[in-house]
Amino acid sequence: MEMEQLVSLCKRRGFLFQSSEIYGGLQGFWDYGPLGVELKRNVREAWWQDMVTAHDHLEPAPGAPGTHEMTGLDCSIIMHPQIWKCSGHYDLFHDYMVDCRESNKRYRHDQVEGRWVEYNGTRIFVASYGAGNEAAARIEQKALKFFKLRAKQKERLQWDEPIVALTTVDDTSQVLGPDAKKLDTLTEPREFNLMFKTIVGALGGEEDAAFLRPETAQGIFVNFKNVLDSTRVKIPFGIAQIGKSFRNEITPRNFTFRSREFEQMEIEFFCHPDTSMKWYEYWRDRRFRWYTDMGLSGDRLQLRDHDSDELAHYSKACCDIEYAFPFLADGEFGELEGVAHRSDFDLRSHSEGKLVAEGDGFAVEKDEHGQPKHRGSGKDLRYYDDQTKERYLPHVIEPSAGADRATLAFLCEAYCEDEVPDEKGKATKRVFLKFHPRLAPIKAAVFPLVKKDGMPEVARKIYRALKPHMNVFYDEKGAVGRRYRRQDEIGTPFCITVDGQTMTDGTVTVRDRDTLKQWRVKTEDCVSEIQTRLMQ
Ligand code: GAP
Repeated sequence: MEMEQLVSLCKRRGFLFQSSEIYGGLQGFWDYGPLGVELKRNVREAWWQDMVTAHDHLEPAPGAPGTHEMTGLDCSIIMHPQIWKCSGHYDLFHDYMVDCRESNKRYRHDQVEGRWVEYNGTRIFVASYGAGNEAAARIEQKALKFFKLRAKQKERLQWDEPIVALTTVDDTSQVLGPDAKKLDTLTEPREFNLMFKTIVGALGGEEDAAFLRPETAQGIFVNFKNVLDSTRVKIPFGIAQIGKSFRNEITPRNFTFRSREFEQMEIEFFCHPDTSMKWYEYWRDRRFRWYTDMGLSGDRLQLRDHDSDELAHYSKACCDIEYAFPFLADGEFGELEGVAHRSDFDLRSHSEGKLVAEGDGFAVEKDEHGQPKHRGSGKDLRYYDDQTKERYLPHVIEPSAGADRATLAFLCEAYCEDEVPDEKGKATKRVFLKFHPRLAPIKAAVFPLVKKDGMPEVARKIYRALKPHMNVFYDEKGAVGRRYRRQDEIGTPFCITVDGQTMTDGTVTVRDRDTLKQWRVKTEDCVSEIQTRLMQ
């Protein structure tokens, strides 16, 4: 599947639109259309149901070291600015960017790649922005153009190494920027904080500056004590939250994959330090399985454990659940979710102040006067176990997923094409979205075969019977084959058709989107038939 085909389907059928499109769009922002909003809502609801409401806290879940409880939160997007100072986001949540003085374009430093090439005694680094299968061809084209060579002279170019990141290049004077025609147009890398700043209150000045949250997680940490004090949850337990996060990404791209406004589905799971690695393993496997249960195929999904040099200094283990998105080069995967063992870093930070690595552990960072650089709340966030009489700071396992990335992966995975005979028996191309029934925006469509002979009346009755239970669509316009195709293209798993036989024996046909099989059921059994099949 080419990404353009999916992007075009998403626009044509109302899944996703560029934000502010009639004004030329705003980069990094997206609007979900009438079908997209249903799809993303189903993703969120499946996650919430599977992680929170349907969780049985009386029995250990398969693979879990014991029983656990799950609860939820919905925190504000703008929170006290000190939260971001103690969490480290204020000082550290930045990317490095480079600007091109010739093209006026800005790039994320770690995402510019290129190759060293030599011709006629001149050795240059030809840069390209964005990997992908075309990067090598783009670099070659640029090199030929720079050295004023024709395609048939390409053998004269002497390439050094394979493609490497610009971050490996110390002296940029010989770099040909991704959109430049001359050498040495890129600036030194500069830090750029990714948090969106805003001002709270009508009279606010710089001291009233606040931030749109770049992750939902911190709202959970700062409410840890509130949840403990207002419920009867006992460790181990998890707090889940779904909500918008904002990051002023330098280069938003790849459809909704990297946006500036996006939604996260995060769990902070609090447990005893002694069992924390077992809980980490449980969550890693549980979250991976969730994606396969929802229809992502095993060969496009991978679990990548972080090497020890990739781990944050406070983290004991971390892995990414990754998907082979079609916009990536062959063999490359993009992150869907991170599962991290965060030790007691976050609760300690919000209690004592911003922490920095010191020796084997970490300590409160001090300013030039020996005072905490960013003071914590001073609240004791330890947990008291009234059975063992132990008071301790719990360790945290954090499965952190993106609702938009998951939705995009489900869309990519669902896109299928096949050939089916049309009404005249001629094989024609069919595009269909093979969504898991739980995720499909519309669960069933109801059609009268023709707009006469009492068929619309029966079909409307079936539609009304289904409506209180699920999202159903009624359509009586055009040839029935075309109506089937329209539903296939938006991923409706079942179509119910009222035909001539319905009027004599009270049965209708039910058609399966994927197999195209049709079978008959009694009109009055339509609700239970569709409900049963949606659960399978
Ligand atoms: N609290 C941990 C945290 O926020 P993260 O890896 O920065 O970790 C978690 O983000 C998830 O949020 C990612 O795996 C991804 O699914 C999603 N995400 C992060 N940045 C995103 C962006 N710019 N656009 C869309 N989704 C994003």
